[in-house]
Amino acid sequence: MTRPHLATTVLRDGAGPPLVLLHGFPLDLRMWRPVAEALPAGIRVIGVDLPGQGHSDLDHLPPSLDAAADAVHATLRAQGEGNAVVVGLSMGGYVALALAERHGDFVHGLGLVDTKATADTPEARDNRRKIARDVEDTQTVDAVRGMPAKLLGPTSELERRALYPAVDHWIRSQSPTGVAWAQRAMAARPDRTAALADFDGPVAVVVGAEDDITPVDDARHMVEAARHGVLTVVPNAGHLTALEEPAAVAKALADLHHRAAHG
Ligand code: MLT
Repeated sequence: MTRPHLATTVLRDGAGPPLVLLHGFPLDLRMWRPVAEALPAGIRVIGVDLPGQGHSDLDHLPPSLDAAADAVHATLRAQGEGNAVVVGLSMGGYVALALAERHGDFVHGLGLVDTKATADTPEARDNRRKIARDVEDTQTVDAVRGMPAKLLGPTSELERRALYPAVDHWIRSQSPTGVAWAQRAMAARPDRTAALADFDGPVAVVVGAEDDITPVDDARHMVEAARHGVLTVVPNAGHLTALEEPAAVAKALADLHHRAAHG
């Protein structure tokens, strides 16, 4: 079976089951550094570049988030991890839900940040496939260069201007092949509300109050579906809460890790 090489980085040393952080689109694990720095000492934190993103390759992986979840699981198992608290922002959250569905024994806690459990509408799917074709035709990521304005909320537009060039830099460093793969994989993902309802571990749902891409209603839908869900709405943050308000996200994730460790 094809298994791409996935880049992983220990963002913070510690003991016990790690907090595994999966990034959003079209970014990579660098977006998690501020959260990792804000987490309490003692929690081991591993960032993973999803297939085709950052420093991870694709190795002919089909465009599927199930395949991405299997690759993350295989990579962490090969590194000796028996289980983990898995956290994903947006696209990372779609993969985290796929991991919970496909490798439930491995996932001891689930963090869903600025994401949703539902599938795309037909219009959203068409739009993703159009972007994928554009990126492949031009062999540039120009089609997603405008995303910082959508990802960051109005408070960041006024008060955190430095985030714009940083996010733009990360987007420009992604490979067109990886960006097209991610768009096709996200377009193909199913509704995972039932998988979330089946998951028996602790769940943290975190959302920026100013998130227009996966708004607070999507977060409420997930926390209502989850058996053991806790909702945190982060004021003054958009879709990239992990960058806009890292301390608030770190607090919610530290609580999730504690719940996973202590039942
Ligand atoms: C992300 O931040 O990962 C994207 O907004 C996810 C998406 O396009 O659905």
